Parts: sequence; structure tokens; C-alpha cells
Amino acid sequence: IPIERIRNFSIIAHVDHGKSTLADRLLELTGAVSKNSGQAQILDSLQVERERGITVKAQTVSLFYQYPEDGQIYLLNLIDTPGHVDFANEVSRSLAVCDGVILLVDACHGVQAQTVANYHLAKSQNLTVVPVLNKIDIKHANPDRVCKELESLFEIPTSEVLKISAKLGTGVPDVLNRIISAIPPPKVNRGGLFRGFLFDSWYDKFRGALNLMYINDGSIEIGQDIQSMNTGKTYPVKSISLLRPGEEPVDKLNAGQVGLIGCNMRSSKESIIGDTFHVKGKPVEALSRFKPQQPMVYAGIYPADQSKHVALRSAIEKLVLNDSAVTVTPDSSPALGQGWRLGFLGLLHMEVFCQRLEQEFSAEPIITAPSVTYKLKLCNQKLIKQNGSDTLYISNAALFPEKSAVEEYYEPFVLGTIITPSEYVGPIISLCVDRRGQQLKSVNIDQDRLLMKYILPLNEIILDFNDKLKAISSGYASFNYEDHGYHETNVVRLEIHLNGRPVEEMCRIVHSSKAVQIAREMVLRLKELIPRQMIQVAIQACVGSKVLARETLKPYRKDVTAKLYGGDVTRRMKLLRQQAEGKKKMRSIANVRVPHETFIDVLKR
Ligand code: GTP
Repeated sequence: IPIERIRNFSIIAHVDHGKSTLADRLLELTGAVSKNSGQAQILDSLQVERERGITVKAQTVSLFYQYPEDGQIYLLNLIDTPGHVDFANEVSRSLAVCDGVILLVDACHGVQAQTVANYHLAKSQNLTVVPVLNKIDIKHANPDRVCKELESLFEIPTSEVLKISAKLGTGVPDVLNRIISAIPPPKVNRGGLFRGFLFDSWYDKFRGALNLMYINDGSIEIGQDIQSMNTGKTYPVKSISLLRPGEEPVDKLNAGQVGLIGCNMRSSKESIIGDTFHVKGKPVEALSRFKPQQPMVYAGIYPADQSKHVALRSAIEKLVLNDSAVTVTPDSSPALGQGWRLGFLGLLHMEVFCQRLEQEFSAEPIITAPSVTYKLKLCNQKLIKQNGSDTLYISNAALFPEKSAVEEYYEPFVLGTIITPSEYVGPIISLCVDRRGQQLKSVNIDQDRLLMKYILPLNEIILDFNDKLKAISSGYASFNYEDHGYHETNVVRLEIHLNGRPVEEMCRIVHSSKAVQIAREMVLRLKELIPRQMIQVAIQACVGSKVLARETLKPYRKDVTAKLYGGDVTRRMKLLRQQAEGKKKMRSIANVRVPHETFIDVLKR
């Protein structure tokens, strides 16, 4: 197929605006799948996605379509993108190989925070935007109002907006035709030497790493040897397939096309998203089509018992190949043993990753509460020498240096966009103030909806900001954030002491204005979580030598044999044995036995 008849595009939309449904209709209309295949949302292949109803992993499908205008067959490569704020990384990676996007907006709910973010992302990459309103079959849909929003926010003329129902299929052929007429063909060079861009990869038990590649120059053929610019390693091309959406083997791909390349890549680490490949021994200029996003949220992950350490490590390694945004470093803790510290793009990203570990690899890890990375300016010469610089990045509260060693503290901030019906503005402002937010802007986008911009500390939003926002707005407000760099801050290290002994895993970094409140919450929580003991337990929360909160746990012995009468000795022994086993999973701190889960539970809000 000549370059002029190829289109590479994505659908970008806010969560639930119907992206997967539209993708399914496009697949049906072009005959990639039969109409009543009975498999809803074909591109959402992972179990987590089905359960949560969100698209996580960007997937690609090649469609062939006969354009009614000229009767010619066109190749349309649809790059599926995730629709949640945490996955902007996968969105920008998908956009890197596109020339245009379908901006899909729900005609009932209108433009949402994610729509705004995605629109600007697409524009910043000079992509053609095809505006489409979905769900016009719904009675209370208000396409006129949403058209006005598109006009006032993005200067999109109403006459350009397509109106469809992805569910019923109404207007969907117009979308296909508009993709061809509005989006330009890829700007690639078929004449030159092969140059390919790796934009996604996943691990296959039998074939190793499979690489999804965009062919930028020349062509790739089975039997050819290709070389990675990042590692310099060479690989023989063993298999090439189009995704339609199942793998369809081909012998060759030309510039402008997208396909799955199998090349005996054994280790997941060799497949680097964003890498450029070229013909063996003939280096070219690297393609830099997108810059990978840095993780913003960190959490410790440990095997539930240390005998599972090796299995958990291999599961994490395989998942990371499917999710290059996750960073992994070894970590250890006295209570939880050997583990890792993982970096995620956000809380949902972390939850989805952990859920996939459990479902796809049957791993049952312990995950510590997420935290952000602080930036510290050190003033202690010894530490500076040890660290190699006076700037220290640190996310593990247990490793925080003494206050006297630090000159300034910085914490990461984000620029948040909130879109909400005006009736919820009051509670939302209170929420943002409570989270140390600072309002930058508040504008009407139509008669009853507002767009607000806030600068917020990332630490205040990673845990539950989105949930709180949804709760106070009956689900109508939407939120999206982008990085806003480090701002100076005033944080302290809050320690928990049990009978005077500090518990390393429970300490955390908190803003000084919130230390007392969090100290109270934590000791109350611990009082509930720690089972009563033979001895009295003092639970204290301290900053330095100052005690901010204290609770006392009264002594008590759980007599498991109390309800047994008479002399059934074996039964009695069994119960005592069970009790002893229950105790094994505890850790003893100053003679206080603390269940493993407590270390995690206490850090939750
Ligand atoms: P994410 O994958 O989470 O980003 O969601 P999505 O944008 O892919 O949305 P999805 O296609 O899963 O659709 C969300 C819901 O809207 C589903 O329950 C669909 O059945 C419904 N839906 C999608 N399109 C239409 C439509 O045209 N009309 C109506 N009435 N419902 C629709």
C-alpha cells in the first residue's frame, strides 16, 4: 500500500466517553472482526482492564478500508490509548507514531479534564484533531452545548464536529471517511535504509520480548539483522506480523506501517521503549519521538514470605517489560525482608500494576503506602561527601537524614485541572485548600460549568484526591494533573514509638502544618490495629524528641481455649498450636508483637 493511502491515528478521550466502543465499531465496519463476535471491547485484552473497565495498555490494530470517494483500499492503523490521568505516558507514546487523533467527547457529560489534557498533548505534537461527539442516542445528550465548549476551549468550529453513537453505530462510517480526508499520510521515507521506532513491547513465554515497531524509513524483512541504537546488540528478524487484532504474519513491512517484530530477544531489559533500530552495522540518527515520563509515586513491594522472593522478582521483571514506566530498585526492611522499591506514574498506575501481579502471576506481594520523592539540600559535609552532591533525592522516610543535616526541603507539585458543574465549587475549593492547594485560575466554560487550575503538592493528591473529588461532586467533577516541578516546603519526619522503641517502617514524612493531625490519626489507628498483648503498650508519635500524640493499649491475653470444657486434649493442643502459628507472622518490637499487615494499614489515610 502506497504511503498516501496509510493513516496512523489514535482515539483520545476522557474515561468512559466510549473510546473502546468506537474502536470495536471501527473493527467491525472494516471487517477486522465479525459483527456479533460477542466479545465486547476487543482491544481491552487484559483481565484488569475488563474488571476495572479501563484501558491500560496501548494496543494497536491495522484496518483495511475501502474509501467510497475513490474506491481505493486504505490502511488505517489505530493505536489504542488509555484514558486515565496516570497513563499520560502511554498516551504520548501512542501519539508519537500518529499523524492525527480522534478527540472523542461524551455528548452528555461534555469536555472533561482529561479531554483538555489530551487535546493539548495532541496539539503540542502537531497532530490533526478530528472532533467527535459520542452517545448522541442518549435522551439528555446536549450536543449543542458540548459544541460550544469545544469552540470556547479549543476554537473548534461547530461545523467540523461529527456526531455519532458508538453504541448503535450511527455516524461511524463518517468517522472513517473523515480520518482519510482530514488526517495526512505519514511523513516517512521508503527509499532509505531501515529505521524503526520501538513504541511498545510485551513478553511472550515462548518467543521472548515482542516489539511493536513503527517503520520510519526503508523496510524490514524476515531474515534481516537489525541493531539497537541503545544497546548496540543485533537481532535476526524471525517474525513480522500485523495486528488485526490477532497476529497476521507478513514477510515485510514498509515505512509508514506498524507491526509486531519477533527477534529472539530473550531478556525483557533489552526491549527499550523509545529505542531506534537500524540495519546491522549501519548506524542512523536516533528517532526521538517522545520523552518518557518520570515516575511520581514510589512504594515498597515485598514477598509475603521470603521463599517467594525469586518468583516475585521474575514476575515483576516480566510485568515491567509490559509497562516501561515502572522503575525498580532493590530495597530491604527489618520487618518485611528483601524487596524492591517501585516507581509509578500515579496511584491508579500502582494499583493496576499490583493487581496484574496478583492476577497474571499469582503473586501476593505486600505493598507499602505510596510516597513521593523529596529533594533535600544538605548542609552536613559528611553526608554531602557520601552522597556525592549537596542535593539528595529521597522517597524512603526511613532513610531521611537528621534535620540538622538539611538546609532546605523541596517537594514535588503538580498543576491540576478541575472541571466541575458550578454547584460543587464551594466544597471543591475547601478540598483544595485542605490539600494545601493554590488557585491559579477559574473560568466558565459554559453557563453552568467551570474550569479551575490549582497548584497542589503531589503528596496530597496521590492517595485519595480523585476519590474525594468524585464523592463531593456526585461524580461530576473531573481531575487531571501534570508535573509542576519542585517547590520549597517544610516537612518533618514523624516517628512511631512502641514502648519507647522507634518503628522504622512506620515513620513517614509529613508537612509540618499537618504533623499533629496525622500523629493523632496514626496512634488511634494503631491502637485499633495492634492486638492486645500480655504487657501494656505505649503508642507514641514523635517528631524529634517531641511527643505529638500518645495512646495506651491495655494488657490482655487472648485465651483461645476458654470456650473448651472438659478434657479434649488434642483439640486444646490444636488451638494452642494455631495460636502459636498466628503469632509467627508478627514482628516483635520492644516485646510488642505487631502483625505484618499493620505496617501497611497504618500508613493508609
Ligand atoms: P476507558 O477504556 O476507561 O477509557 O473507557 P472508554 O472510553 O473506552 O469507554 P467505553 O467504550 O468502555 O464506554 C463506556 C460506557 O459507555 C460503556 O458502558 C458503553 O456501553 C457506553 N457507551 C459507549 N458509546 C455509547 C453510545 O454511543 N451510546 C450510549 N448510550 N452508550 C455508549
